[in-house]
This record gives sequence, C-alpha cells and structure tokens, in this order.
Amino acid sequence: MKPHSPAWLDTAVFYQVYPQSFADSNGDGIGDLPGLISKLPYLKSLGVTAIWLNPIFESPFGDAGYDIADFRKVAARYGTNADAIKLFKEAHKLGLKVVLDLVAGHTSDQHPWFQSAATDPKSPYRDYFIFTGDEPQKPMFGDSTPKTADGEHFVANFLPFQPALSYGYHQPDPAKPWQLPAEHPACLKVRTELRDVMKFWLDLGCDGFRVDMASSLIRGGEASAELARLWQGFRAWFDRDYPEAVLVAEWSNPTQAINAGFHIDFMIHFGETAYTHLVGSPNELQGKRRIPHVFFERSGEGDIRLFLDNYLKHYTATAGHGFISLPTGNHDFQRPRRGRDLADLRVLYAMLFTMPGTPFLYYGDEIGMRNIDGLPEKEGSMWRTGNRTPMQWDASAPNLGFSTAPKKSLYLPVDPAKDAPTVSAQLADKSSLLQFTRTLIALRKKHPALGNAAAFRPLYAEAGRYPFVYERSDTSGRFAIAINPGEPARSVELADFKGAKLVLAEGAKLTGTTLSLTGVSFAILQLKDVRTASTD
Ligand code: NOJ
Repeated sequence: MKPHSPAWLDTAVFYQVYPQSFADSNGDGIGDLPGLISKLPYLKSLGVTAIWLNPIFESPFGDAGYDIADFRKVAARYGTNADAIKLFKEAHKLGLKVVLDLVAGHTSDQHPWFQSAATDPKSPYRDYFIFTGDEPQKPMFGDSTPKTADGEHFVANFLPFQPALSYGYHQPDPAKPWQLPAEHPACLKVRTELRDVMKFWLDLGCDGFRVDMASSLIRGGEASAELARLWQGFRAWFDRDYPEAVLVAEWSNPTQAINAGFHIDFMIHFGETAYTHLVGSPNELQGKRRIPHVFFERSGEGDIRLFLDNYLKHYTATAGHGFISLPTGNHDFQRPRRGRDLADLRVLYAMLFTMPGTPFLYYGDEIGMRNIDGLPEKEGSMWRTGNRTPMQWDASAPNLGFSTAPKKSLYLPVDPAKDAPTVSAQLADKSSLLQFTRTLIALRKKHPALGNAAAFRPLYAEAGRYPFVYERSDTSGRFAIAINPGEPARSVELADFKGAKLVLAEGAKLTGTTLSLTGVSFAILQLKDVRTASTD
C-alpha cells in the first residue's frame, strides 16, 4: 500500500530556525522560544508554511545541542516545555507547522542512560549503547577514541562525547559479540524509546521531525534492508496515528531515504552529490575549495550536468513518493558566498524556489546574511561558526536587534559590517532580496505548476554550457525557468518559448522563441500550453 502523504506537504515551504541565534527575548545573549514566538508574524509574512527548529533540548552543548541529555525537556536557555507548547499553538494559529529535530542516533555522554550504562555493567541501559571492551572505536569527528572513566571503549556516532544508541548492526561480525543484530530485543527496546520520545512531542503538538543522521542508526548498513525496515516501521506508525506529521531525513540520498519511509530528504553537502555541484563542493562548503568549478559561479565554467544527472536519478526514483529538498543553506555548511552583489543570490533563489520538492530557507538567507569568517569555534562548531551568527533584525537596535545583552555575552558576534543586511531595511526596500524571496514564494504558491509535486523536465541542459532551462508543469499549466549564473551573456532558442510570457525575470528578454540573458540573470516564463520539440 502506498504510504499516506499529508496534503500540506504539497505546498510546504520551510524556514529553518537556529534557535540560539534567532531572537533573544530575555537579554541573556542567546536566542530563545519566546523570542521565536514574537517573530512568528514575520515568518508568516514571508509566505513560509513550516518551521524546522534545531535541537532545543537539555544538553551540555558540546555540539550545540546535538548532544542531548534529556529528550523530553527544553533546555533552560531556550525556555520551558510550556514555551514549546505555546510555540506550537501560536504557530498553528497562523497556519504554520513546527518540526523539531530528532537526534535519533546518539545521546550526550551526560545523558542519564549513558551515565548509568557506563558506570554499571548491570545497568538496564547497558545495551542501549555499544561498549567494545578494549577495542578502540574511531568516531566520525574528533581526535580521541571515546572511553568510559573505567577505560572501556564505546562507539560514538559523531564526536567522541556522543555515544551511539544501539539499533543493531547490518551483518554483525560473530567475532565481535557487541555487534547485535537489529532484531535483538535490546535494539528493539531502543527503538521503542525513540518512538516514545516522538510520541511525547507529537502529543504536545509538534508536527514532525527532521531526523539527524537518519542513515546512521543501523551500523554498517546505510543501504540495508534493516535500516529501511526500521524507518518504514515508524512511517507506518505515523500514517496510522499521526497522519499529518512529517519525517524529514538528514540522509542526502533521497532514493534510500524515501524508500525507507521519509517524506522528505535533503541533497546537501555530503552523501549524494547534486547540491555540491550547484553551489560548492563539500570541502568548499567547509571552507576549502575542491571541485574546480560549480554551476553557480560567475566564471560560467561550471557544468550543469554534474548536478543534473545525479539529481534526475534521485528525482525519477522518488517522484510521487516523497520530496527532495535543495535548501538555501543550513547550520552545517557555509552560507552561499557570492560577493557583495546580491544578484547572484537572486539567481540562485530563482532556481531553488522553482525546483520540485520542498524548499527550505535557512534563517537570514532571505536577507543575504554573510558567512562571517575568522570566528573562534563555538560549542563544537568546527568549520560551522560563520554560518550560525545571530539574525540581523534592525541596524538601529543594539546587536542588530538580536539581543539587548552586552556584546561580550552574545552567543556569537553579529555581523560587524557597516552594511550588514537587516530585515527592517529590506522590508522598507521594494527591490530587496527579502522582498524578492517573498515574491518567489508567493509565485510558487499561486501557480501549482511551480509547486512541490508538479513535474520537472530539463529543456536545455548541455554539458559545460549556460543557461540551464527546465520545465515545471501540471494539469494547470506549464512554466520554463532559465538560469544564467555566469557573467557571460547567453541566449537560447526553444520552440517551447513560442507565445510565452515572462512572469518574473532579471536581465532577460524574449524575442519570438529566443531568450536573451545578460550575465547573472534568470527568467521564469509561463508557456503556452502546447508542447513542441525543443531546438538549439
Ligand atoms: C548533523 C547535524 O546537522 C550537525 O549539526 C550535528 O553536529 C551532527 N549531525 C551530530 O548530531
């Protein structure tokens, strides 16, 4: 039976809030839930329909809250559980959904389960984690191999202080008795715990979860049947008990994630390439350059096929079953850095907000917040500090309106540039990036043929050539979108353009069936409803 998909996902546009950096209501220098609640009308005015909040739970904050010490309690710095409930209610009043972050693969080493398991071999929580005796285990990041105070090694999921929860191994090695199969009762118990955590928040009114490192749960089995079965089980439970709630994967392999039951998966800075060939290689997104050229650069030397071939593979495998998201950014990689000229961002957003799947707008990207370089590491941020700086609300208020705290107590410094973009300035400027982003979101909403579920087909996508032109369509209409991020002017002739109307464009002119594009330009065209063979 085909899984149920909540109807709201067909028109969903998400806004990602990094809670510690969004809005500080109590002047302690850290963003909080009441601050976010006060900004809901702003989010509504952007046209987004849902919010994804990074973890807001009790934590020692060794990894900015991705190391959870209590899955059921809001961290004091963000407020209380009552504030979370209020957030759900106030958001719902405005028609906005709220999705929380589910850190399914690990806890903090300060979590009572781990504290008990690490100090008492007879602890009921012993099998929630993977102790490996004297066999060291390398974590994904960090130099040390994790050990308990008694010198026992254990498996960590990301940094050494994030002990992996034990959901089982794909093909356990009989020589390693600590590798339990996924169906082992201890592993099934951990699954039940995870379900209970989800139930706790769903019953308080949240609308689903973005699942952190969703493919990490079955060890050694990213593509395994055990992993797919695990998530399919949760999806079946959602479909039955919480049919309006969503599961968003951090997997970066939509074919696998959607097959495993997720409604949405990102293509981002790791995993399957696509995003990386559009805006930056994994290394570039982490501050270093690797791929010589990406499509969104002024040299015009990128290659759209590098993005498209892999994207299409996943699009074709998932269309009608789930959604792919190409976000504007997120808290794990650099904000798109394209000089001071926001024209580059406008062209990038013209594409991201007219592609199929679910748009995710990272906080501050709507005003073109810059990546701030050279900041010291904060709470395990590693290369990710400069894309987590405070939201810039208003140049005339202290700390750009983020917080009334003294500068030295801010979670991270605000952009010190004199011309740091702000919401208030851009609200007052009709030609701003903020207004443009709003226009794109409104256009997507107005025309279902540009929406999440409408069809996608490349019309002009030649290796090493610009522009990239693609079609979006459904029974209500047909659009072509032409994207030219390169500096050189380009023109393209397509029979599909005959009788078309430019609905939104910058630097574009249509003469007959020829579309002329200046450097760094785009066009969104409404096509006549006749389909003819393409030329050029
Ligand atoms: C992915 C999250 O997005 C990232 O911020 C975090 O550090 C790791 N998972 C570990 O939870």
